[in-house]
Amino acid sequence: MRISVIGCGYLGAVHAAAMAKLGHDVVGIDVDERKINDLQAGRAPFFEPGLPELLTEAQDTGRLTFSTSMADASGAAVHFVCVGTPQRKGEYAADLSYVESAFRELTPYLSGEDIVVGKSTVPVGTAERMAACIAQAQPNTVLVWNPEFLREGHAVKDTLAPDRFVYGVPTGEAGRRATKVLDEVYAAPLANSTPRLTMDYATAELVKASANSFLATKISFINAMAEVCDAAGADVTALADAIGMDDRIGRKFLNAGVGFGGGCLPKDIRAFMARAGELGADQALSFLREVDAINMRRRSRVVELTRELVGGSLIGKRITVLGAAFKPESDDVRDSPSLSVAAQLELQGATVTVTDPEALSNSKDRFPELSYEPDMASAVSKADALVLLTEWKEYRNMDPKVVGKLVSSKKILDGRNVLSPKTWRDAGWAYKGMGRP
Ligand code: UDX
Repeated sequence: MRISVIGCGYLGAVHAAAMAKLGHDVVGIDVDERKINDLQAGRAPFFEPGLPELLTEAQDTGRLTFSTSMADASGAAVHFVCVGTPQRKGEYAADLSYVESAFRELTPYLSGEDIVVGKSTVPVGTAERMAACIAQAQPNTVLVWNPEFLREGHAVKDTLAPDRFVYGVPTGEAGRRATKVLDEVYAAPLANSTPRLTMDYATAELVKASANSFLATKISFINAMAEVCDAAGADVTALADAIGMDDRIGRKFLNAGVGFGGGCLPKDIRAFMARAGELGADQALSFLREVDAINMRRRSRVVELTRELVGGSLIGKRITVLGAAFKPESDDVRDSPSLSVAAQLELQGATVTVTDPEALSNSKDRFPELSYEPDMASAVSKADALVLLTEWKEYRNMDPKVVGKLVSSKKILDGRNVLSPKTWRDAGWAYKGMGRP
């Protein structure tokens, strides 16, 4: 099947390569020339495990090309819209300008029976509006809203073998035809028993918003428990293990620490609140304000704990922040808790060095005023305290005896609760976790 993928960021680049892997003939389109040149040369424009191999494999078959021209979408039978929906400046609402321009620019290249598939995360009501725009120009073209649930760092697997497919479709024959076409696109994963759910546009859009809100709520719940554990002298890690054994609760997404960041959860819960407000249902989501507030409080808490750890004042202290990406196995630093903490520590007088195996180049673009050191041993050298904020394997597996010889003072704040307090304390370190005694 001939497919176009509009937008080649974290979502679209992986989607385009994965669709070629499934046997389709794919063109990926993006306005960013540098990104397209990289992809065309078989280079992944960002760090995502498995993507370089997938790109090479797909391009070797001749079924995957990239272009900066929307005209190259013509001739494809299915068009995936994968552009970003960032938070609007100074507001909670999502900026839909990329989605709107993608649809506007794609429409002239659509022909009769094409299917357009929206994958971007959008406020409920957007699909209906985009469908009306397409219908004016191409009455036989059908829009499906097919939200994407991929996690960065696991994007290849999540795209090729997702937990489920959700199709938001119009009623009647148009919806049935579009479902059939999308089933053909996803024939391989569907044959592997991936569940597929069809529903109306609004419900499909809300599935995505509510899934991300649930995940954010789960993380903020355990972080709220960490605050109470701190006050009571209890251990949130043991608490999470114990409540997580209840099947109804589950242990996943109950890791307390510096909280969530990235290009999705923070802006998606805010956009959801903004949209609910427009619909007159703001009360229903007022709890998300608290979820957001608990999450942002974690960052201040890390700064406070670091100050305590170094004796009450950050002024002139050399602090090394381990990890800059918003999560391991990613180079994404959008709304990264680590960088937000690093910047606050620096503003409060500390001399901060940030290290990360993959995300330093993106970090420098965002926070040029911080110092960066790619080599971990050099980064920790002579530090007055270490602050672990992204749980990359190399930090989880650090040997406290080896690292102890490099630092000036053996003090560590484990902002992700991934180290063994006993091992570190036995090696002579002052260890502090988040919500752990
Ligand atoms: C998220 C959703 O998981 C995904 O389904 C959706 O499509 C996009 O948004 P992603 O942003 O890639 O994916 O990362 P995710 O793994 O959800 O982590 C988000 C943040 O939560 C990270 O900063 C992570 O460190 C943090 N987190 C996660 C916790 O603090 N504790 C946890 O227990 C789990």
